[in-house]
Amino acid sequence: MPESRSEYIKLIAEIMEIRKRSDKPMACIHTYGCQQNVADSEKIKGVLYLAGFDFTEDAEEADFILFNTCAIREHAEDRVFGNVGALKNIKRRHPSVTIALCGCMMEQKSVADRIYKSYPFVNIVFGTHSISRFPELYYNQLVNGKRIFDTCDDNTIYEDVPTLRDKEFKGWLPVMYGCDNFCSYCIVPYVRGRERSRSSEAVISEARAMIEAGYKEITLLGQNVNSYGKGLDEDISFSELLRKIDAIDGDYILRFMTSHPKDCTHELIDTIAESKHISKHLHLPFQSGSNKILKAMNRRYTREKYLDIIAYAKSRIPDVSLTSDIIVGFPGETYEDFCETLSLIKEVGFTSLFTFIYSRRPGTPAAKLPDVATEEEKGKWFTELLKTQEEIAASRCRSMVGSTERVLVEEVNEKNGLLSCRTSGNIIVEAQGDDSLIGTFCDVKVTEARNWILRGEFI
Ligand code: SAH
Ligand code: SF4
Ligand code: F3S
Repeated sequence: MPESRSEYIKLIAEIMEIRKRSDKPMACIHTYGCQQNVADSEKIKGVLYLAGFDFTEDAEEADFILFNTCAIREHAEDRVFGNVGALKNIKRRHPSVTIALCGCMMEQKSVADRIYKSYPFVNIVFGTHSISRFPELYYNQLVNGKRIFDTCDDNTIYEDVPTLRDKEFKGWLPVMYGCDNFCSYCIVPYVRGRERSRSSEAVISEARAMIEAGYKEITLLGQNVNSYGKGLDEDISFSELLRKIDAIDGDYILRFMTSHPKDCTHELIDTIAESKHISKHLHLPFQSGSNKILKAMNRRYTREKYLDIIAYAKSRIPDVSLTSDIIVGFPGETYEDFCETLSLIKEVGFTSLFTFIYSRRPGTPAAKLPDVATEEEKGKWFTELLKTQEEIAASRCRSMVGSTERVLVEEVNEKNGLLSCRTSGNIIVEAQGDDSLIGTFCDVKVTEARNWILRGEFI
């Protein structure tokens, strides 16, 4: 039996050299959900790349198809089931293709059972805790052809899994995994397991390697980065980790997500204010402006505490850009509660919001709570929320016209041919320019505001 990950990768390469359908074995990877999943997919791509694979968007020409799934809302799950169903015909046309499903949905027994019974063409199912075992699982499936269902509770952090990043100048850097907060609506703690942090040495050396390789933007990832360090042998907080990375020389911008308001400290805000590289942006999800709903959500802060943090951030970081997540229609929410969410967004003036209609997640405490509002009412509130935020974002964007912003040039917007760039505050500015600017920092004079996107000219 092979013993190490690299031996399994070598064996997969040997098998696929014979079985491949084109010049190189091809993999088609689809990632749903949040950046944690994107970072996990980059690990799987790292393994496949070392095994000689090339990547394709077209499932039809692939030897290996993987969906990395998300369980956060029912709609996300429905989409996955629909798309998996469509793979049946591909498997019929190309019986040698390996079809694999991984990610958060697969950590739910009911989902894994449904795949087992109703989707017999799926060859491999593995959960979020089994990412590091992927080479072994794939190898076993290739040699014995049997279906593999692997979900385990292994919480070990493996530092030696290869990573192939999607972009060459901006990248994700996980600092911790899992979540212990158990917000009453949320499935994440059940599918991602307990909170665990990577050692600061591992994080810092990866950040340093990225900066040396020319990365211009690094985003530190965790479900609640503010509790980074808990449970480690070393005594280190997230703010300290940020300061250590910020001390690395180079021309780069440092971002992080997500912060939880319950332990977002003044120290963190001071760290952003005093840093050289950290973006002047704070993504701080508040979910609801009503204390009654916050309590029922088990968020463990109040509206007042949240507004205190925001006031401190505004006082310490000039022009700080604030963004947030909101849930509309949590069980028991009334129109009066919803109005408190509206008043909070008006008071804060967020740059942008990620807004969601509550989705019942079986197995979470909120799933058992009685509801008072109808889906139709929730839909109306949601539209009202979007409209209110649109006006706030537009007025914020208008106030930036005439200013000069340092931006990272990211890509060409295929629709209008302009270069899409991002400010430190995470606002998109589009400007006419040469593709060679992609991946570099430039100064842009903002000339026009279009709802939540700016237009400008390179200086
Ligand atoms: N750890 C992050 C958020 C991760 S999930 C945090 O606590 O801020 C991203 C967002 O999805 C959440 O902030 C929440 O707004 C939304 N979300 C989570 N569960 C949901 C559910 N059951 N229904 C609707 N939205 C949900
Ligand atoms: Fe879910 Fe709350 Fe954890 Fe965020 S902090 S992942 S919302 S349980
Ligand atoms: Fe979805 Fe899992 Fe992220 S449930 S939002 S992919 S942690």
